Amino acid sequence: MDICVVGAGYVGLVTSACLAYFGNQVTAVESNPIRLESLKQGEIPFFEPGLSDFVKSCIALGTLKFTDNLDDGVKSSDVIFICVGTPPLANGESDLSQVMTVARGIGGALDNKRRRVIVNKSTVPVGSGNWVEMLVAQGVQSVQPVPARSSRTEAPAFSVVSNPEFLREGSAIADSFYPDRIVVGSTDEPSIDLMRKLYNPILTQDFEAPECAPRPKGLEHVPFVLTDLASAELIKYAANAFLAMKISFANEVAGLCEKVGADIKQVTRGIGLDMRIGSAFLNAGVGWGGSCFQKDILALMQVAREYHYPTHLLEATIKVNEHQRLVVIQKLQDELKIIKGRTVGLMGLSFKPNTDDLRDAPSLGIARQLIKMGALVKVYDPVSMDSCKKQHPDLDMQYCSDLVDLATGCDAIVLVTEWEEFKRANWREVSQVMRWPLVVDGRNVLQEDEMTGVGMTYRGVGR
Ligand SMILES: NC(=O)c1ccc[n+]([C@@H]2O[C@H](COP(=O)([O-])OP(=O)(O)OC[C@H]3O[C@@H](n4cnc5c(N)ncnc54)[C@H](O)[C@@H]3O)[C@@H](O)[C@H]2O)c1
Repeated sequence: MDICVVGAGYVGLVTSACLAYFGNQVTAVESNPIRLESLKQGEIPFFEPGLSDFVKSCIALGTLKFTDNLDDGVKSSDVIFICVGTPPLANGESDLSQVMTVARGIGGALDNKRRRVIVNKSTVPVGSGNWVEMLVAQGVQSVQPVPARSSRTEAPAFSVVSNPEFLREGSAIADSFYPDRIVVGSTDEPSIDLMRKLYNPILTQDFEAPECAPRPKGLEHVPFVLTDLASAELIKYAANAFLAMKISFANEVAGLCEKVGADIKQVTRGIGLDMRIGSAFLNAGVGWGGSCFQKDILALMQVAREYHYPTHLLEATIKVNEHQRLVVIQKLQDELKIIKGRTVGLMGLSFKPNTDDLRDAPSLGIARQLIKMGALVKVYDPVSMDSCKKQHPDLDMQYCSDLVDLATGCDAIVLVTEWEEFKRANWREVSQVMRWPLVVDGRNVLQEDEMTGVGMTYRGVGR
């Protein structure tokens, strides 16, 4: 199939490469000239394990190419994916300006040579499918004025479907090949057939797994969830809101654990084994971050506000998370008493491991607060330090070369991102270079026995 993917960020790039791996001809359209140039060389402008080599292999296969020419991409394709960003505005609404530009642009490029399916993969509020359809039609009219009744010229045929994306940064390739489900929102039969055909290798798992993403044991098929447009759009928001709510729930119970002398790790294991609950996303710590959870919950609340519908759970989910981000600072105050003049080392900057994404990362808020309180903040992260220096030049922090460099002279270190290398650190060496051997484990991933065994004071969350 001939496919055009507009926007080569996390979602667009991974989608492009996976579809190209199946032998489709994929044209990825990217408007950022710096990003485009590096993509043409197979260089990935962000950190995602395995993606650079995978993209290079698709380019070499001849099934993936990059351009900034939307017109060419649209004209040569049967299916056009919209994968541009939908960042939050100050009032919580999604900024849909990128989607708007692209939808009008697609309309302006459509012709009568084939019927196109336009796929909304960007996370967009309920009703956006119809809105995109309107914008595409406007784009069509801007270049092809409405034909006179007598004219035989027909408007280009197209249909808009919703196909929300559920990949996670850090495991994006595997998530794309082995998703829990493919959701397609449409009532247009030819479009539904085409989407089924496009996703058939994934639905039937009838493809040779790429080296970078081995197939999970026992996976034989992936469910195809067919819905109307509005339901597909809501599924994406509801899924993210639910996951965030689970984490906030675990965090609220963690606070209570500290009061009554219980251990949140034992409590969440005990409740997570209940099949109706499940253990995923029940980890207490410094809370959730990233480009999606906060933005999607705020956008969902905004939609509800338009219908005068109350969203008590969503509001509480955000409130708990905001509070949770700063519990590590309370723990530092409990142990060190005075923060002013102390040296605190933050282990990890990215919002989670295996990505350099700093969007809404808890580390940033913690660093800001500590600086405000008069601490000297040192940081070490295996991949995100360059991005942090560029994106947050206002943060006056000392960037360190490794964990021992970070710990040297610190009164406390705080684990913020659970990178593997932190779990396997030489804690004896770390404790010896610290001024005061205090570790606050903001993700509950370190072994308390190991820490205390080398003379460190260990503080987790909810334990
Ligand atoms: N990142 C994730 O983990 C994730 C997961 C699921 C869903 N989503 C959703 O997918 C969408 C994309 O997210 P992302 O993280 O990939 O965003 P991103 O910001 O990383 O990428 C968007 C890309 O689109 C490009 N772009 C913008 N306008 C363009 C135009 N007119 N023509 C061509 N390219 C254009 C940008 O330059 C950028 O490279 C968002 O709606 C997001 O909420 C993201």
